[in-house]
Amino acid sequence: MCGIVAYVGERDASEVLIEGLRRLEYRGYDSAGIAVQSGSRLELRKRQGKLSNLTLALRENPVQGNLGIGHTRWATHGRPSDLNAHPHTDCREQIAVIHNGIIENYLLLRRELEAQGHTFRSQTDSEVIAHLVEKYFTGDLSAAVYRAVGELQGAYAIVVIAAGTEQVVAVRTVSPLVVGLGEGENFLASDVPALLPYTRRVIFLADGQVAVLDRHQVRITNLRGRPVEVKPSTVDWNPVMAEKGGFDHFMLKEIYEQPQVIQQTLGGRLIDQSGDVDLGLGLDFSQVQRVHLVACGSAFYASCVGKYVLERFARLPVEVDLASEYRYRDPVVPEGTLAVAVSQSGETIDTLEALREARRRGAKTLGLVNVKGSSITREVDDTLYLHAGPEIGVASTKAYTGMLCALVLLGLHLGRQRGTIDQKQASWLIAELRRLSGLVQQVLDHAEAVNELGRRFQNARDFLFLGRGINFPTALEGALKLKEISYIHAEAYATGEMKHGPIALIDANMPVVMVATESAVYDKVISNLQEVKAREGIVLALVSEGDTRAAALADAVIQVPRVSELLSPIVNVVPLQLLAYDIAKRRGLDVDQPRNLAKAVTVE
Ligand code: F6R
Repeated sequence: MCGIVAYVGERDASEVLIEGLRRLEYRGYDSAGIAVQSGSRLELRKRQGKLSNLTLALRENPVQGNLGIGHTRWATHGRPSDLNAHPHTDCREQIAVIHNGIIENYLLLRRELEAQGHTFRSQTDSEVIAHLVEKYFTGDLSAAVYRAVGELQGAYAIVVIAAGTEQVVAVRTVSPLVVGLGEGENFLASDVPALLPYTRRVIFLADGQVAVLDRHQVRITNLRGRPVEVKPSTVDWNPVMAEKGGFDHFMLKEIYEQPQVIQQTLGGRLIDQSGDVDLGLGLDFSQVQRVHLVACGSAFYASCVGKYVLERFARLPVEVDLASEYRYRDPVVPEGTLAVAVSQSGETIDTLEALREARRRGAKTLGLVNVKGSSITREVDDTLYLHAGPEIGVASTKAYTGMLCALVLLGLHLGRQRGTIDQKQASWLIAELRRLSGLVQQVLDHAEAVNELGRRFQNARDFLFLGRGINFPTALEGALKLKEISYIHAEAYATGEMKHGPIALIDANMPVVMVATESAVYDKVISNLQEVKAREGIVLALVSEGDTRAAALADAVIQVPRVSELLSPIVNVVPLQLLAYDIAKRRGLDVDQPRNLAKAVTVE
């Protein structure tokens, strides 16, 4: 959360900063601001609300300069306003700071600094950093920053510039920062997409590292100023991957990328003849006796599917935990535990902390992560990458399907190693996996049927989503997609649980989305469907192609191609994503930047 960009070179800094922020707006859109060094002064422009407000302000009142910092905010301390927008400055506006994260001891620091005569303008925790740097600044910016961060407690990424100093100084503790290396210019950002138009040579800063950039060089040190050896990496994403490519929204583009993502996640990892899976990992799974899956949000729902898959394929006991719960519940982590952190961004702080907790208790650790070089990938014993490409839409879609595919691969791999799946079964599953991409494409090719339901139900006040077995998480994910982008209240229940309470909600105004595709519990689902109909509920049934029983009872149906039940969540989630998207669009909402949300949640 909070997008960070910095630039030093020969270009017009404000252009580079705005372009970078445009590519990072998904990280927060409560306010935006830039500070540019202009002669011996710092020029600031800050606006509450979306980036477009800031660009308008810059059109009326441009800034000139070749060094600057920019920020899009997701508010923690202090409401969204022009004043609370970053960058924040010291008393004399000679030092400007942008910050992502939380300074836990800011109140104490603020009182001390105020007692020493510093005047504060905002209610943010971030402003203390500017005043602390001011306190220690005697001409050497990095020296002042080292001293200032020595007093800060919390998790943060900060970037500091000072009038008359040709340097950008950035510090990372927990919140991500990436340096982009150029020729005669250097860049810095919280995420890779902001750098893609300029360079693909990057340095991912690790926790406790400081980067000092000028136009000719980048120096990396520890928090005490000692140089640290780091190797630049080359990112394999290209700028086009982070563009909308003709779609109205990133979310829609990403929904339509799913057939390709499935191929990329599975690609090269399936060995047809032997029925084996080559994950390309060094991690030794032979001693694994149980699995703990930790994740948040959609990644948690993907992990719930993972539990079914891993238990079925590998016959290992699997626990799934919300990461924010796991780390505080004193989990039992016996010898032989494999802790798997599932995360698109690889930066979600709750997931990272849960992983650390598991590791402290002796677990082996594996990351199922999309973003290369992200924090989780640095801390785990090994990473199985999703290869989903950059996901920009705040509501996760293609990373979710990537996670499901990766979990299936992991299950298959463990199953083959443990002898719980024989070659024949495995080869059959691999053949099914190879069909998946085409099946998802078929769903996308019939999106108009889903859009018709969007038209009919766009004004509903509440929705109930029901799913059973391995598709209970599909219902949870469908409800989450709908609420986060359309702001319609949606609840998900395990279909069999409906009669234990939620059935009281059902009346003629309550659309009930029921996952009723072919499964071992299909007959039971049909009985549950009848129970809803008996109470005048409106049923939108997700059924397998050619189904007649569910279709005969439901008010509306969405057909999906038939596939093995264990892989059905990968196909079934797609119409639910399309439904959420269509309804949100019809309601005129900002699909890619839903209110109060931001991508990559780096605060607890
Ligand atoms: C929902 C959504 C969030 C994320 C969650 C975890 O559409 O995007 O619920 O799934 O914040 O994020 P990652 O996967 O980056 O750890």
